[in-house]
Order: sequence, then C-alpha cells, then structure tokens
Amino acid sequence: MKPKLPTKLLYGGDYNPEQWPESVWLEDVRLMRAAGVNMISLGIFSWAKLQPTEKRWDFGWLDRGMDLLAKNNISVCLATATASPPPWLSTKYPEVLPVTADGVTLQIGSRQQYSPSSRVYQKFAAALVRKIAARYRRHPALAAWHINNEYACHLQECHGADSTRAFRDWLRTKYRALAALNAAWGTAFWSQAYGAWDEVLTPRRAPYHSNPTQCLDFKRFTSDAFLALHRMEAAILRAATPAIPLTTNFMGFFKPLDYRAWAPEIDFVAWDSYPDPVDEKAARHAGAVGHDLMRSLKPDRPFVLMEQATSAVNWRPVNLPKRPGIMRLQSLQVLARGGDGVMFFQWRASIAGAEKFHSGLVQHVPAAASRVFAEVKALGAELKKLAPVAGSLVHNRVALAFDWHAWWAVELESKPGRIDYAAWAQALHRWFYEHNIGVDFVHPGSSLAAYDLVVAPALYLLPAKSAVNLTAFVARGGTLLATYFSGIVDEHEHVVPGGYPALLREVLGLWVEEWAPYPEGRKNGVRFGGRKVTCDHWCDLLHLEGAQALANYTGDFFAGRPAVTRHSHGRGAAYYLGTRLDAAGLDLLLGRVVREAKVAPVLRTPAGVEATVRESTKHRFLFLLNHTDKATKVSLGGYRGRELLTGKIASRSLLLPPLGVTVIQIP
Ligand code: GAL
Repeated sequence: MKPKLPTKLLYGGDYNPEQWPESVWLEDVRLMRAAGVNMISLGIFSWAKLQPTEKRWDFGWLDRGMDLLAKNNISVCLATATASPPPWLSTKYPEVLPVTADGVTLQIGSRQQYSPSSRVYQKFAAALVRKIAARYRRHPALAAWHINNEYACHLQECHGADSTRAFRDWLRTKYRALAALNAAWGTAFWSQAYGAWDEVLTPRRAPYHSNPTQCLDFKRFTSDAFLALHRMEAAILRAATPAIPLTTNFMGFFKPLDYRAWAPEIDFVAWDSYPDPVDEKAARHAGAVGHDLMRSLKPDRPFVLMEQATSAVNWRPVNLPKRPGIMRLQSLQVLARGGDGVMFFQWRASIAGAEKFHSGLVQHVPAAASRVFAEVKALGAELKKLAPVAGSLVHNRVALAFDWHAWWAVELESKPGRIDYAAWAQALHRWFYEHNIGVDFVHPGSSLAAYDLVVAPALYLLPAKSAVNLTAFVARGGTLLATYFSGIVDEHEHVVPGGYPALLREVLGLWVEEWAPYPEGRKNGVRFGGRKVTCDHWCDLLHLEGAQALANYTGDFFAGRPAVTRHSHGRGAAYYLGTRLDAAGLDLLLGRVVREAKVAPVLRTPAGVEATVRESTKHRFLFLLNHTDKATKVSLGGYRGRELLTGKIASRSLLLPPLGVTVIQIP
C-alpha cells in the first residue's frame, strides 16, 4: 500500500493544546475554522504529558484533542513526540544525555537533550511511537505523521560512550579492516596510526587540528545516526499505518544532516523557514533559495512549509515583527516555488516558557483585535481561491550541483582560505533568482538529463563518478560552469594530484597550479571583454590546455593571467570561474553562460518582481510577486489567463500593487 499524499493546499501550524486548559481548545477550533485552517501539527513536545512516569501513560487529553479536531474537519499531522524527553528519563538513565567534544554533558531543562546513539533513548522513543501509532492508527483526524522535530537542530553531535561505540561500529561497517581505516584517514601523518578499534574515538577536543578524514567521517556518521533514529520511528509507523504519509521537518541549508540521503525516507518534504525581517531583500532570496533546495529533494511532488513565523520570532537578539503584507507575500512565495502547504510555528502564542514572545497565528491579544490574525484569516481565504495550484510541479533547466559531503569537507580546518560553501552556492543562485530563471539543486553524480546548464560551485570534494558525470553532461551538449577550489580531493579527503582539478582537467581544458586566497577586503581587478571589474576572495592561477581566456587579472604578481575561461568539449562547453567577481562581472559571465545554454527567464520583470511557473497536466500557473513598495507594471509577454485571486482575465500587462501578488492560471 502506498501512503496517500496530501492533495490540497495545507494551512495551519503547530498546535500545543497541552499548554492550555481545555476550555481554550473550543475557542481554538472556532478560530481555526474562521481562518481556514485545515491541518495542524499536534503534540510535538508532549512526551512528558503522554508518559508522566516510566510506567504511567495519559492519552485522555490527546484523545479529546484528536476528537475535537476531527469533529471540526481539521486534519492532524500527528507528532511522535520524541523530540524532548521528559526529565524522569535522564534522571533514571543519565546515559541518554548528550556529551560535547569538550566532554561536557548537556542537561535537562531545555529540549533535545538526548544522544542520537543512546540505546536507552531509542528503546523509550520506540515504545512511545508504538503506543501513539497503535492508539491513533484509525483515527479520522490522522492525515500524516510528524516524526520527532528538526532533528539535530540544537544537538548537532554527541561524543558520549554510546556515540563512540556507534561511531566505531559505523567505521567497521565502512572499512572492515583497521588497515583500511588507517589508509583512508592517512594516519601515517603525525603518528596517528591505530592498532586496535578501541583506540578510535570521535574527534574530541584535541591540542591542535584533528585528523580531517576522521572529522569528515564523524559528520557522515552523525547524519546517519540521526537518520537511523528517523528510520526506527518510520518503520513502526509504516507497519501500523501504511496509508498514512510520514515526514519530518527539515531546515533548508542545514549542514549537519545530508538531507539528500534523508529524502527517500520521507513521503513528502517538509521544512521550516525563518528569514530575518530586518533585511527584507535578503529575506526574499533566503526564502526562495531554501524552497528551491528543499523542493529539489523530491522534485516529483510539492513540498510543505511546515513552519514559519506569522510575525516576530523570539530567538534572535532583536526580533522585528513582519510588517503588514510580508507574511502573505512570503507565504505565496512558498506556493510560487513549488510548495503545497503554508504552516506556522505556532497556532497560539505561549504565555509561559522560552517562546512566549514568538508570534503565533493567535497572538496574546484577542483575535478580533489582532492585526496578525486579520492577515492570517485573509490568507486562509486566498489559499482557498488558489486550490487549483495544488499538485502542480516546477520544471527547471538549470541545476546547481550541491553536495553535503563537499560542504563538510571544504569547511574543515586547515584549508588555504575560508570558503562558506552554502553562501557561495546561494550567491550564484541569487543571480538566477533575480533574473527569474528557475534553479534545481542536484547531486553532481545524479542524472543531469533534464538540464541545459549546470553550475558547480566549489565542489572541493568530488568523487570520480561525479567528475565523469559532469564531463559526460558537457560532451552530450550541456553547459557547465565550475568554480575555484573544485575537484581538489577524493571521498577520503586526499588530494588528487597531477594539477588541480585533476578529474575535471579534460572537460575544463585547463589546470590550476596555485591559488591566492585573499584576506577580507583585499581586491584584484579583472579585464572582462572590454570592461574592467573587480574580484576578491580567491584567485586561481591557471594554465590553459585548450580553454580560451574570457577574462584576465589586472593586478598582483599574476596580472595578465586568465581568471575566467571557456572550453568546448564534445557538443557542449565548460566555463571556469577562478575568482569571485563583483556584481557587474558576474552579470557578464552568467549572462553569457545562460545565452550559450539557451536558457530563458520565465518572464522579464522590473527589479523586485519575482516570476515563476508551476505546471500540472492541465494548466500552467504564472506567479508574480511584487517585493517592492511601489505599484509596478508588469508586461506579460505571451502569457494570458485567469487571475485566480480576482477572477479577472489577464493579458498583455498588469499592475501589481505594493507587495502585491497575482497567480494566473493558463490553460
Ligand atoms: C523551530 C522549532 C519550533 C519552534 C520554532 C521557533 O526551530 O521546530 O519548535 O521552536 O523553531 O521559531
């Protein structure tokens, strides 16, 4: 039996009724209905309430909550409640508590205080999930499972006894023989050779740099350790309810977990997005790039935004509210980029605890007097009009090669310079975003058949198979843009010698002899065509082997040497960017690359107007989002259709009000 995926646009949020007297619940459901809420995530942090002592269970309150929601036609994404173990667990079994690299045991009183490898935690979590699954498997409100919550959000690694044992087991499975581990970790260096498995530790605080391959393997292990927990819960739920889809909430560009390895283990992608309202311009791209990364994990179905804030959060030093219109705009951006759900943390703002100043759909003030609730209600009504969009997909012709293993490796200590991998990928994505060219994120070793252009920033760690894949993509006619510090090491983080990036030398038609990473603030110049632009951060010193120089450095001891190149290979072309160009330089380069790849924007729009397209078998949906405070006229090119929010026919051009959005359904 296949899980039944959601088929409508979801609207709602985290609901924590355990924080409130039941009399408040009646007002909750009344307001939920008024707001058009159709799904809520229930009981995420309710373990202590469900199991107040080791031997005692209390499901009465949850039964009543589930029944009330069912009666009011509100579906439940039911939590497995394993994210915050109750105090009794670690009082009796202190070994469940996580330990930092410095050997500090993290204590109770907050949340997520468990070691992912703790056998005791696993046993109790499994028992809890079994109870919940058995009790609610046939409940009419149950529509989906919400496993745990934001795995590893606060607790990103553990060095305790169970984790050390589990790390050794993981290494034994990977390397089988200790000799293979010694070879992979390069332990001939600094007298690190291991003579017995028991000597191997997690990378704890040490006098100086730890072994980089050990650190890399520990990151891989940690992602897998959390994934094993997820799998454990998922197996219980699948056995109990094969038709109910399950998910866990991801966090976008979250380094500790290789979400690409996680994606096959969930039925739909759910994620949490909290761009800072302080910088709205940054926020609009932060939202978009996060949606693109998350959507790409399961491109054949819409994702769900599981959490965002209606207004302010509580966890930044200064928490600005979202001004009127921003919450709506950001919510409709979710749909624009392939999402079918707009959910929030949380339904009703708490009055106690660390999150009492975090906004909710219902604030501390009466709903009837609340600016935020008025916006929530209005958005709920609009989502009903946008119902036809549900299930439609996003198809892009540009891919950005992005790999968590490359991310982990390039940001380990003792590198020539500091590369912020996610920021570099996002900076390149941003150019495409601002030009209304849709981008998917892919693994460099995955099928690239759907794409005309692949952008591959800083693939420092590049397995040979991925290098072959990128080379074949170009040979078949694709356009590739690779950047500095790519293809430097293999999976074990060993340099591939012979002129960097050895495995991409053939396709790029060049090799890199040296590099000059620049300290913050230092700049060089680049002559690009007839123009002079600046560059910073990094300068590769290249030797051409068939590639043609498009731009040359103007300063430093390598003035005159190539900085940007193009090489024909097979039926395609491979570009190389050896430095970080300023905005004008990036425009010159990407403008040219996009022309060569024959990739066109969805629509050319005035600055600040985002345009995207979703497609179903019957329709296309053109989304236009005006992120500016000015009414803006947009020419529609050849697009013509019905505006879903107003019912009007749109053709030729239309005027978007400040922060305005339109969705045009095109037959
Ligand atoms: C998320 C978390 C929620 C809530 C929210 C506040 O990270 O999943 O439980 O804490 O942040 O913004």
